[in-house]
Amino acid sequence: MSPGLSARFQKVFVGSNLKMYKTNRQTLDFLGRLQELTHDIPRSELSLFFLPSYTALADVCLAANHNLCWIGAQNMHWEEQGRFTGEISPLMLAEIGVDLVMIGHAERRQIFGETDVMVNRRVLSSLVHGFQTLVCVGDTQHELHYGISADVLRQQLKTALYGVTPEQLCKLWLAYEPFWAIGEEGQPADPGLANDIHGVLRQMLADLYPGKDQTVPILYGGSVDLENIEGLMKQSEIDGLFVGRAAWDPDRFNQIVRKTLSTRRLAQG
Ligand code: PGA
Repeated sequence: MSPGLSARFQKVFVGSNLKMYKTNRQTLDFLGRLQELTHDIPRSELSLFFLPSYTALADVCLAANHNLCWIGAQNMHWEEQGRFTGEISPLMLAEIGVDLVMIGHAERRQIFGETDVMVNRRVLSSLVHGFQTLVCVGDTQHELHYGISADVLRQQLKTALYGVTPEQLCKLWLAYEPFWAIGEEGQPADPGLANDIHGVLRQMLADLYPGKDQTVPILYGGSVDLENIEGLMKQSEIDGLFVGRAAWDPDRFNQIVRKTLSTRRLAQG
């Protein structure tokens, strides 16, 4: 193992958020092709997942081989039922066999005005209902410019995890997704900078849960593509990748998964 490279996890975590793309049929085709292309990769080395739109979730959960690929929801309300037009409840997601729930994606925070407190409510509910819970945090261009990213992210994470018990940490994954790195206008983060921020998040976990911080994988997301995987996956604090656009073609997703794995294997020697 090269100096500094963490062997925290035996596997790498690679997933994609399909956002508001792909119909039900298109998502089922995507799933079929992705499973076919990646089935030979031992899942002891890889945790693969993707998050379809709500209308595709039930069919995709039914069709998926959950040993090969986990299926997740892009958001979830904290209540089991109620007057919450347009929201989806934990009971609805549990009934169709969702493995994972993502909370606090940058687009939810930025476009739909989700606050840290709402994120916290969703996180607590997701954990209580037994879902693997992927919490996204991110800084803005403005915060980066003024050198306050670390402060903002500490605050986001501390609020998101308020009330989460040490026992629940085994169900928690984190993703650092700088808002300024996401989407076509985004610039991928410099791998060293991403690594430093992951270190800040890891330290925050250590402060909140002494001795338990190493159990939570931290993924990087934001304009990840074949060209920048190597730089990112050589970093000691980056445990996996969370990919948007570049993974929506299953053949490219397969290449991304393989490159992530081979870079990590090489780096670990
Ligand atoms: P991107 O999206 O890879 O297309 O930048 C990342 C995300 O929003 O998770």
